[in-house]
Amino acid sequence: MKAEIIDLPKYEDPRGNLSFLEENNHIPFKIERSFWIYDVPGGMTRGGHAFKEQQEFIIALSGSLEVRVDDGKHSDIFTLNRSYYGLYVPKGYWRQMQNFSTNSLVMVLSSTVFSEEDYIRDYDDFLKFKN
Ligand code: TYD
Repeated sequence: MKAEIIDLPKYEDPRGNLSFLEENNHIPFKIERSFWIYDVPGGMTRGGHAFKEQQEFIIALSGSLEVRVDDGKHSDIFTLNRSYYGLYVPKGYWRQMQNFSTNSLVMVLSSTVFSEEDYIRDYDDFLKFKN
């Protein structure tokens, strides 16, 4: 699979809308970890790195952000601004989160537990890894 937007179920209701996801169903991996990013000061970027193994699903639960993904040959920018879809990022993509709106809340679901060894934090190392 490539990096792509996945639409989630959305139950519209006058009492308030509801969305959900299930591992290995709406997203193509088992969830081992979740983390979230919040209180991002204006102009800051996060997550400029790649993972050797980790797959992710990124949802803007509130507010908006852009995610730039790069497979070593092409890069794309996805805007996330609704909580009923998210961005699937396969392993082996460089990805950066940028242009967070004020008070944005970003949830990341991960296929692995945290492991610093899984990170590639240098872009030249990433290109070597891809080739
Ligand atoms: P990191 O993924 O490096 O964030 P960014 O690329 O945006 O700077 O995470 C920052 C630090 O947080 C990292 O060095 C260790 C810690 N961390 C954990 O301990 N567990 C986690 O699940 C995550 C995502 C980060």
